[in-house]
Amino acid sequence: MGRLAAALLLLLLLALASPYPITATAAAAAGSNNAALGRKESELGRKAVVVYDGRAAGRYAVIFDAGSTGSRVHVFRFDKKLNLLKIGHDGIEVFAKVKPGLSAYAGRPQEAANSLLPLLDKAKSVVPACLMERTPLKLGATAGLRLIGDEQSEEILEAARNLVHTKSKFQYKPEWINVIKGSQEGSYLWVALNYLLNKLGRDYSQTIGVVDMGGGSVQMAYAISANAAANAPVVPQGEDPYVTREYLKGKNYNIYTHSYLHYGAFAARVEILKAKDEPFSNCMLRGFAGEYTYNGEQYDATAAPEGATYEKCREEIIKALNLNAPCETKNCTFNGVWNGGGGAGKDNLYVASSFYYVAAEVGIVASNAPSAKTTPTAFRAAAEKACQLSTEEAKIAFPNVSDGDVAYLCMDLAYQYTLLVDGFGVEPTKEMTVVDKVKHGEYYVEAAWPLGTAIEAVSRKKLFQSA
Ligand SMILES: *[C@@H]1O[C@H](CO)[C@@H](O)[C@H](O)[C@H]1NC(C)=O
Ligand SMILES: *[C@@H]1O[C@H](CO)[C@@H](O)[C@H](O)[C@H]1NC(C)=O
Repeated sequence: MGRLAAALLLLLLLALASPYPITATAAAAAGSNNAALGRKESELGRKAVVVYDGRAAGRYAVIFDAGSTGSRVHVFRFDKKLNLLKIGHDGIEVFAKVKPGLSAYAGRPQEAANSLLPLLDKAKSVVPACLMERTPLKLGATAGLRLIGDEQSEEILEAARNLVHTKSKFQYKPEWINVIKGSQEGSYLWVALNYLLNKLGRDYSQTIGVVDMGGGSVQMAYAISANAAANAPVVPQGEDPYVTREYLKGKNYNIYTHSYLHYGAFAARVEILKAKDEPFSNCMLRGFAGEYTYNGEQYDATAAPEGATYEKCREEIIKALNLNAPCETKNCTFNGVWNGGGGAGKDNLYVASSFYYVAAEVGIVASNAPSAKTTPTAFRAAAEKACQLSTEEAKIAFPNVSDGDVAYLCMDLAYQYTLLVDGFGVEPTKEMTVVDKVKHGEYYVEAAWPLGTAIEAVSRKKLFQSA
C-alpha cells in the first residue's frame, strides 16, 4: 500500500513538473527509466496498472502492410482505455494504399522505399506533430518479400528503414520494419478480432479462435491455458514457437498459433493436384482441361471424363493434407503439427479471408453480410452440389464466382470442409462464424492483422519491454 501511494505521488509530481498532460509525461518516464518502472509495476500489481494505463491516452499507431500486390498504411488512434477513437474525416481508421508491392522493385531498393512516401505523407498528415515522436511506426512485409529472397528483401527493408528514419519523426526501431512470419499474422489477427468483439481483458476461455486462410498459407490461432502453454512441444531450431504470449487489457494470454505454408487457398490447389493418383483430378469440374498456374509454375488440372466426384476428391485432399504424417506430439492437426490441445479458446471459431470470400460467392453467407454463422457442413453441402456440375453448369449455378475459379469450386469447397473437420478437428455441425468485418461501435472494421499489431504496439507492457 505504501509503495502504491509513493508511485501515485511520483506520477503526480511528474505531472506537475511538466507542461504536458500526465499521459505524455509518464510515457517519457517509461522510456527513460523503464527498468525501474517495470519492476514497480510487477511489485505493485493490478492497482498500479490502472495508473500507468493513463499513459496510453490519445496514442496513435502507424502500421504499414507491405503485401505482395501493394503497400497499405493504416493509422489508428486509441484512448487510454485502448478504445479506438475517431480519426480522419469519417471513421476510426485512416487508410491509404499504393500499387505495386515492394517486391515489384526487387534490385531497386531506393525505388521500393520511395513507393512508400505517399503513405508516409498520409500518416504524417493525420498524426499531430507533437505526438509523432511517441507514435510507433511498424511495417510488416508478408509473402511478396519472402519470395524474392533474403538478400534483395533485406536491401529493400533497409531502404525503407532509412526512409522512415530520415523523412519522419515517428517512433522508430529497425526491427519494427521487417518481414513478419505467418504465425505473427495469425496471432495479430487473433488480437484484432478479440479486440473488436470486446473479448480482451476476459479469461482466455471466453476468447474466440481464428482460422485465417490467405492465398499462400493458412493460420490458426487460439488462446490456451497457462498449463497447456507450459507443456507445448518444443519446435526445432529456427521454427516459430507454438505459443506467443501477449499482455492485453490487463490479462496475460497464451496464444497457440501456427501457420501452414502451402495450405492457403491458391497454394493448396497445387498440393491437391500433386496428390492425385490418376492422370486426372477427381476434384476438377467436368469439361475442364488445362493447367493451373501458381507462382509461375504450371500443374496439370485435367478433369476426369465423368467430372468431379466428391468422395474421391476428398481422398485426394486428405492425401494432400498428409493426415497420416507421424505425430510426435500426441495430438496433431495434419502434417505432423501440434494441434494446441484444443480447449475453450478454440470453442468459438471465426474463419476469415478465403473462407469468407468463397462462402459469400457461393451463397453460404449473403454476399453483402459482414459476417455470418454457419457450419462446416454447409461447406460440404455446397461442395457436393458443385462437384456434380460441369464448368459451364457451375457458372450458371454460382454466378458470383469469378470465371477463373469456377472449375475449382468442388476442390475449394471440399478443401475448406476437410481442412476444418479432418485437419483442425472441428465437428461438422459445430456452429462457427465466417467473418470479413466486425461491427465495433458504429463502424464496421476489417478483420485483419494490422489492427492487432497497432494494439500490441500501444499496449502498456510492450512499451516497457521494447523501450
Ligand atoms: C490429446 O487429446 C486428448 C483428447 O482431446 C486429450 O485428452 C489429451 O490430453 C491430449 N494430449 C495431449 C498430449 O495434448
Ligand atoms: C450475387 O451477388 C449479388 C450482388 O452482390 C447478390 O445480390 C446475389 O444474391 C448473389 N447471388 C448469389 C447466388 O449468391
